[in-house]
Amino acid sequence: MASDQATLSRPVSTIDPFSHAFLHDPYPHHEAMREAGPVVWLEQYGIWAMARHQEVRDSLTDWQTFCSSAGVGLSDFRKEPPWRPPSIILEADPPLHTRTRAVLTRILSPAAINVLRTTFEREAELLVARLVEQREFDGVADLAEAYPLKVFPDAVGISGDGRENLLPYGSMVFNSFGPRNDLFNQAMANAGPVREWIMSKCSRAALAPDGLGMLIFRAVDAGELAEDEAGMLVRSFLSAGIDTTVYGLGNALYCMARYPEQWTALRENPALIRGAFEEVLRFEAPVQTFFRTTTKAVDVGGVRLGEGEKVLLFLAAANRDPRRWDRPDTFDVRRRATGHMTFGTGIHGCVGQAVARLESEAIFAALAKRVVSFELTGEPRRRLNNTLRGFDTLPLPLVPA
Ligand code: HEM
Repeated sequence: MASDQATLSRPVSTIDPFSHAFLHDPYPHHEAMREAGPVVWLEQYGIWAMARHQEVRDSLTDWQTFCSSAGVGLSDFRKEPPWRPPSIILEADPPLHTRTRAVLTRILSPAAINVLRTTFEREAELLVARLVEQREFDGVADLAEAYPLKVFPDAVGISGDGRENLLPYGSMVFNSFGPRNDLFNQAMANAGPVREWIMSKCSRAALAPDGLGMLIFRAVDAGELAEDEAGMLVRSFLSAGIDTTVYGLGNALYCMARYPEQWTALRENPALIRGAFEEVLRFEAPVQTFFRTTTKAVDVGGVRLGEGEKVLLFLAAANRDPRRWDRPDTFDVRRRATGHMTFGTGIHGCVGQAVARLESEAIFAALAKRVVSFELTGEPRRRLNNTLRGFDTLPLPLVPA
């Protein structure tokens, strides 16, 4: 019985990838999982995990076998009701996904997003000039949060009041992909009012006439979407477009402070700025994981996975797989880091990546002009999250140019 033998020989791990110890320092655990095999059974949750680059990429590109409609977190939507109505893009498979994705691909294409460049650069210059004047700032609150919270909701066309709800909402979304642990419970403590505020901002009536949000409603007018679907997609912007970039910018600042010679290289050659952000995403991935669910039994590296089983894909572990990367644990802004898994890949690959890249380019171009170096005086404090990796505080005295 070949399949029984395969089942018996599956690598098993007792690791809890949502424990505080793991989330504080996931890298040794990533290595252990990569070395255990192409797919590993995580006993504690009764799920599969993949940590090697090839298997992660192959699963993300095989949506027929590894679906998203049962949820991209631990919870299986076919067995328990989701905490919010499922996303009609992230938590959907074709053909629904194809239809909604087409609209967002158009609205968020690099060319469409380039229209925002002047505004994003101006806001970055203003913010950075202010922070340099201060000589010391908190990399998280004053920059990594402040900047996306200004430019992105402005671009979507969300009014200024109540924006303090956006980060708690993101925390709810990204913690909810994990188990019902302490991080989930904390994030959900004030869920009702936060969710209500978010929904109130997603209607046609609430949006500015010239923002990205209204462009989704134009797709309704063109017969591509239903009115309530458009509101759901505006919600997707607010779920997926803020915390991801907040954690990404924070991690980028951390890397530049932690590896000062890399910051010097970047200042000397600003043409490296774009590639440097890709290297940050590879090296300190703000989005660490996403799940899939098998639609049928499938063999992975000689191990048989059953139908309807949850698979945890370690994007961040794939990013440091020595099978794929030379010196994977070295942060090197000159590296060609494209091919990292932090934006995912395949049909669900991040549709907002042009926005994230524009934000990081605007901020780091402004910093490169004005900051000789950052000084990491103390150990920054981490903010733990079931999906995201980043910081709570990052005190950064700086040396101005
Ligand atoms: C550094 C910042 C970002 C990172 C690391 C990131 C990461 C990701 C990843 C890994 C996925 C794939 C999820 C999956 O395969 O299940 C994804 C999808 C998505 N992202 Fe991003 N993202 C970022 C910024 C943004 C921004 C700024 C927006 C909005 C403008 C956005 C909107 C979306 C949406 C709507 C999806 C769902 C796409 C689909 O299912 O077809 N993201 N993102």
